[in-house]
Amino acid sequence: MEVIVVERPEDAAPIVADAYSRLLAAKPDAVLGLATGSTPLGVYDELVRRYEAGELTFASARAFLLDEYVGLPADHPERYRAFIERVFTGRVDLRPDAVQGPDGLAEDLSAAGVAYDAAIREAGGIDLQILGIGADGHLAFNMPMSSLTGRTRLKTLTPKTRLDNARFFDDDLDQVPRHCLTQGLGTIMESRHAVMLGFGLNKAQAVRECVEGAVSARWPASVLQLHPHATVVVDAEAASQLTFREYYRTTYDGKPDWQGI
Ligand code: PGA
Repeated sequence: MEVIVVERPEDAAPIVADAYSRLLAAKPDAVLGLATGSTPLGVYDELVRRYEAGELTFASARAFLLDEYVGLPADHPERYRAFIERVFTGRVDLRPDAVQGPDGLAEDLSAAGVAYDAAIREAGGIDLQILGIGADGHLAFNMPMSSLTGRTRLKTLTPKTRLDNARFFDDDLDQVPRHCLTQGLGTIMESRHAVMLGFGLNKAQAVRECVEGAVSARWPASVLQLHPHATVVVDAEAASQLTFREYYRTTYDGKPDWQGI
């Protein structure tokens, strides 16, 4: 696991965007794993800036979302398919039919989960998966005690996650879905490069437990300690409880052959 501490969230964006630039230069038809939530927005803005500057094209790339609410109508603005189109995919030259998410409106949700994993496999697997971390350590919508080897499947959101997300639903908890389809931790672990971001003091405990604590379903993101190529980029606030936070600030400075994350 590479752990990189930057001062502010905006310092993370170019570091992560560089990984996309390198990947897409080497493999224009790369498969990207996209996360929703507030955390990756700075990275998406930087990717849009590079696209608009002619430095980057997504024309041959494909993308898969991490998760989706169950039951939100197709035209609901908070469906993750709609959200990602607004904040990222609709702002670059990714073809709309090259972006897929789990089908939260499927009649058979279990079958939809299995089909989603199969679609990722058929696309050749995810090359670069971006991830946020929940304050309780959740990864995608894999809540505490989720199987560390689970596949894309139906899950129940915790009351805390529903409360956190009520801000997107007019602060009306009743409007927040109770269930979701989410890539499992096993699915996420098959990505070739997993990049997890965490910003702000409210993520500090989860970052400590997941980065320096034991691998445990209590802190689902801790499974990334077993990933062969996982990078964690956190700001000073989110890093504030890490024992080795000063080391993580300088580990990669001047390291021979280090090309970036
Ligand atoms: P956030 O959510 O990026 O909005 O903090 C992260 C998550 O809950 O996974």
